[in-house]
Amino acid sequence: MDILHVSAECFPVAKVGGLADVVGALPKYQNKLGIISKVILPYYDNSYIKNKKQESVYKSKLKLGSTSYSFEILELKTKLGFQLFLVKIPGLLDRENVYGYVDDTERFLSFQIAVLDWVVKSKAKPSVIHCHDHHTGFIPFMMSHSKKYKTLKNIPTILTIHNAQYQGQFGFDKLDYIPAFNQDKIGLLDWNNQINPLATAIKCAWRITTVSPSYLEELSIHANGLEYLLKHENQKSLGILNGVDTNVWDPEKDKLITKNYSVKTVQSGKKANKNYLCERFNLDRSKPLFSFIGRLVYEKGADLFSDIFYKSLLKNNASILVLGSGNKEVEAKLKSLNIPFKNSYNSFIGYDEVLAHQIYAGSDFLLMPSRVEPCGLNQMYALRYGTIPIVRRIGGLKDTVIDIGDGGFGICHDQSSVSDVVYSIDRAVEFYQNQAAFKKTRKKCMQIDYSWNKSAQEYLSLYKSLTN
Ligand code: GLC
Repeated sequence: MDILHVSAECFPVAKVGGLADVVGALPKYQNKLGIISKVILPYYDNSYIKNKKQESVYKSKLKLGSTSYSFEILELKTKLGFQLFLVKIPGLLDRENVYGYVDDTERFLSFQIAVLDWVVKSKAKPSVIHCHDHHTGFIPFMMSHSKKYKTLKNIPTILTIHNAQYQGQFGFDKLDYIPAFNQDKIGLLDWNNQINPLATAIKCAWRITTVSPSYLEELSIHANGLEYLLKHENQKSLGILNGVDTNVWDPEKDKLITKNYSVKTVQSGKKANKNYLCERFNLDRSKPLFSFIGRLVYEKGADLFSDIFYKSLLKNNASILVLGSGNKEVEAKLKSLNIPFKNSYNSFIGYDEVLAHQIYAGSDFLLMPSRVEPCGLNQMYALRYGTIPIVRRIGGLKDTVIDIGDGGFGICHDQSSVSDVVYSIDRAVEFYQNQAAFKKTRKKCMQIDYSWNKSAQEYLSLYKSLTN
């Protein structure tokens, strides 16, 4: 069995969020199960790509409306544990960032056309094409209804929804970008009078997966306008929880942290890592350290952070550290908290993979008060590093964290509100005072297995059900 994952991100080649971690790990675990799993993504202009050996495997031209572009498919020689292909479209895809350009519609549509132009010409066809999020959402439609891809009609397609908030909509004035298709099917492109790649994929993919079972349930209530559609397509949908790449996230071997540790040596290991963080960020090491890592956006509850932190720091004996970037107003507010809380608060505004590892290793608690969390990987990374997660019961957070009050290993609350999060921090501070229970729980956290092994098996069963 030969699987082709089509994605905009893949760690460590190009990462904006969790999508990259999943696409960078799942294929590796799938290959271990004996299937051949490959990845194709856009060729971005970044140093990871430029510094690796590349081999050209296909060259051609594609048309987007009336504009024609040359493109090339390159195989990037890496040691990632799966074959990696890149679509190079000079002037369109070869930019530094993954998203955020005015012509993202053109960029990702031409990416998808190039992928299928290559697949349709290649002798060995994949057994399944596995698409991730809206950037790859036209692939199932084009394979079923575009004349030039008619030989791909019988290849099963899967869409994995990592985040339904983003759908990539654009106007019907760009309809001619989509290669000639059976006009009776035009309705499949439409959602609320716009061309909507995510909605199109939900309608056309053979199967849909979401990155956790709870997220699938929640999508029929909150899906940024696609609730009805997702409810309607429920019989072909399945929630499969993401996993952790235990080679990348391993406190015993992680080269990015100050001191390695195992369950046995967690006490001294976490202490050394915490000392490093407290020194670097000028925080009092005697207090419990709470951290947040992620995008500073509404979905993550970031607009509530300054109020939460202000209230908690005023009354509690705690330190808080933030790593992330996003909304400029939130960033500014978070920076200003340094003034009243000099030795108990700090932030690093930006993205820094090395620092993220250090924070998982050196923190006592990780905060995730998300409004929406399709899966969430950070709580699983935290667990592996013996950092107790404090989460809102939503999406994948609900599926992976059990409250200490229910015999579990985390702290959970129901709402993404200032009062709920402050209350959880209060509970955590109190729990920290009972060092015996705290240390026992952190060992328990480290022993929970959320590796990809189980989920990779679930995807395999899904592929088998489609190819038999
Ligand atoms: C998106 C979601 C996140 C999920 C990740 C990987 O970034 O917001 O919850 O863990 O995709 O699937």
